[in-house]
Amino acid sequence: MQVISTIAELRARLGNERTIAFVPTMGNLHEGHLNLVRQAREHGSCVVASIFVNPLQFGPSEDFDRYPRTLEADCAQLHGLADVVFAPPANEIYPAQQTVFVEPPPIASELCGATRPGHFRGMATVVLKLLNIVQPHAALFGKKDYQQLHIIRRMVSELNLPVRIVGGETVRAADGLALSSRNQYLSAGERGEAVFLYRTLQGMRQAILQGERDFERLQERAVEALAARDWLVDYVAVRNQSDLQPASPVKDDLAQRELVILAAAQLGNTRLLDNVEVCLVD
Ligand code: PAF
Repeated sequence: MQVISTIAELRARLGNERTIAFVPTMGNLHEGHLNLVRQAREHGSCVVASIFVNPLQFGPSEDFDRYPRTLEADCAQLHGLADVVFAPPANEIYPAQQTVFVEPPPIASELCGATRPGHFRGMATVVLKLLNIVQPHAALFGKKDYQQLHIIRRMVSELNLPVRIVGGETVRAADGLALSSRNQYLSAGERGEAVFLYRTLQGMRQAILQGERDFERLQERAVEALAARDWLVDYVAVRNQSDLQPASPVKDDLAQRELVILAAAQLGNTRLLDNVEVCLVD
């Protein structure tokens, strides 16, 4: 496995590769990332992982400075799984002030975008840059960041990028908590409580599968249940998988409906995200 930090060296290394599968990350790798890297092997003969904490996708009061940077440990974990690790310094990706950005679709200002203005613009911009640098045949992203994956799919489709986007399933701890680099911000007490977000979404999923169609009420109840346990809820939303628009409770639309329940909420100082898919097939 080669660790490369410049675009020129990376291009020289990848120039003769037949098929490239790419997993972009911000490092501090956990089993969720490693699972994507393993899966990448099915999509390309050369597997590239990138590690870059992208300043453009963090707001001024967010955790860019304290985001865990663990390059050595990350490379040790990738050994034997990836062929190339691209770990550029910030000035390799942004040699001058970035003045050209990807304008993401309107859904980028809803859900996570409502409280993180500019986040998806910064994310989409760096993903486009990384795809142009690596030029992979396939790129893999976790479903844990469901809205991110949706926006990347839209960008790739609407900008005609020659890459296949593959979504990887969320990897969970034994109790169900979705793995995330930010979980390490949780205190021991918060870590015990954190799984309640997933349990809440699962409860909603069960209710929908059993026939509940008042999605507004379901959302409100979930927010109340979380707030009662001192969560600061950002949103809980039942949406269509296809376009992330609010799911309609109209009975006629229900056959073969693919929904997703998404949530973001803060526990102490840690913002947690999760989602579960619900497929209603008659
Ligand atoms: O999901 C992430 O880790 C980041 O948003 C990504 C896709 C690597 C872009 O910086």
